[in-house]
Amino acid sequence: MKALILSGGAGTRLRPITHTSAKQLVPVANKPILFYGLEAIAEAGIVDVGIIVGDTAKEIQEAVKDGSQFGIKVTYIPQEAPLGLAHAVLIARDFLGDDDFVMYLGDNFIVGGISELVDAFQEERPDAGILLTKVPDPRAFGIAELDVDGRVVGLEEKPEVPKSEMALVGVYLLTPVIHTAVRAIEPSDRGELEITDALQWLIDQRYDVRSTTISGYWKDTGKVSDLLEVNHTVLEHVEPLVAGVVDDASVIIGRVRIEAGAQVSGSRIVGPAIIGADTVVKDAYVGPFTALADGCRIEDSEIEYSIVLKGSSVTGVRRVEASLIGRDVEVTPAPRNPAAHRLVLGDHSKVQISR
Ligand code: G1P
Repeated sequence: MKALILSGGAGTRLRPITHTSAKQLVPVANKPILFYGLEAIAEAGIVDVGIIVGDTAKEIQEAVKDGSQFGIKVTYIPQEAPLGLAHAVLIARDFLGDDDFVMYLGDNFIVGGISELVDAFQEERPDAGILLTKVPDPRAFGIAELDVDGRVVGLEEKPEVPKSEMALVGVYLLTPVIHTAVRAIEPSDRGELEITDALQWLIDQRYDVRSTTISGYWKDTGKVSDLLEVNHTVLEHVEPLVAGVVDDASVIIGRVRIEAGAQVSGSRIVGPAIIGADTVVKDAYVGPFTALADGCRIEDSEIEYSIVLKGSSVTGVRRVEASLIGRDVEVTPAPRNPAAHRLVLGDHSKVQISR
């Protein structure tokens, strides 16, 4: 069994962060989202892993390297443009050979990993296995129509009038017959070769496509609100640690991880939260579900339910919340006179200013 991880795509909904960084490398609880997937694959006993890369190939390769840090062996497969999930299978033909494989979307997050699913698939070995979960907004996903026995009878990509609320999760268990399917289909209206159409083709040809409904937590981290939610979920299980320095005037409550070289003084930190290595928290409040990356500075400020990337600072600012702050960003108050906001924002930034 091999794995094919999709780590291309433009990540438009996470701009401006994704102007300079791959969406799969945005950290959740200070670890790139992609790494959780790689760990889940390694845990399922899969060693041969192909990673489909696009414009952000260099950055992904620098982070994942040869995969040995995860106990896997990585082969990079460049995709010239985001032409669809079935297109990714098409160009991975040589790497995949005649093996079964799990296709995993690099921006998806599943609590509890995939080991049980992979084991069950290998035991039953249908022609394809999909995972489904109930979603509140079915028009944003691939949607499955099931018969009374729970068998998949139809699949549709982002339907305007969804036939169910059961969405395709970004993990697919596939056998070599998929290679025939991806060659048989035509690009969709959005110009992509859809894996949903390839699976529908298998169903039409009477291949055995089975579904498993997962009740556990799953998120496609394409949007900021989803990322913050996953960050929330992961932080709930963070291993508390104080490897940095905390002075007597500070109060630490709940699950808090303070990495080596971090300095906390005159502050209140309410977990779950992570303070990255060499980050300074001074006369500040860091509230629940906050992940501060390495080398940040939070001074005379309040922040909660947020993700702050490497090297950024928030100084002299009242409550920042539900925010995703990029790398090397500076947030400061404006001078009193004139009473105006001064902004230097990258393309596609989003700012909400309290009046
Ligand atoms: C893709 C699939 C869709 C699936 C979703 C899960 O959508 O096409 O069927 O439900 O991943 O994350 P995309 O992320 O390309 O919009």
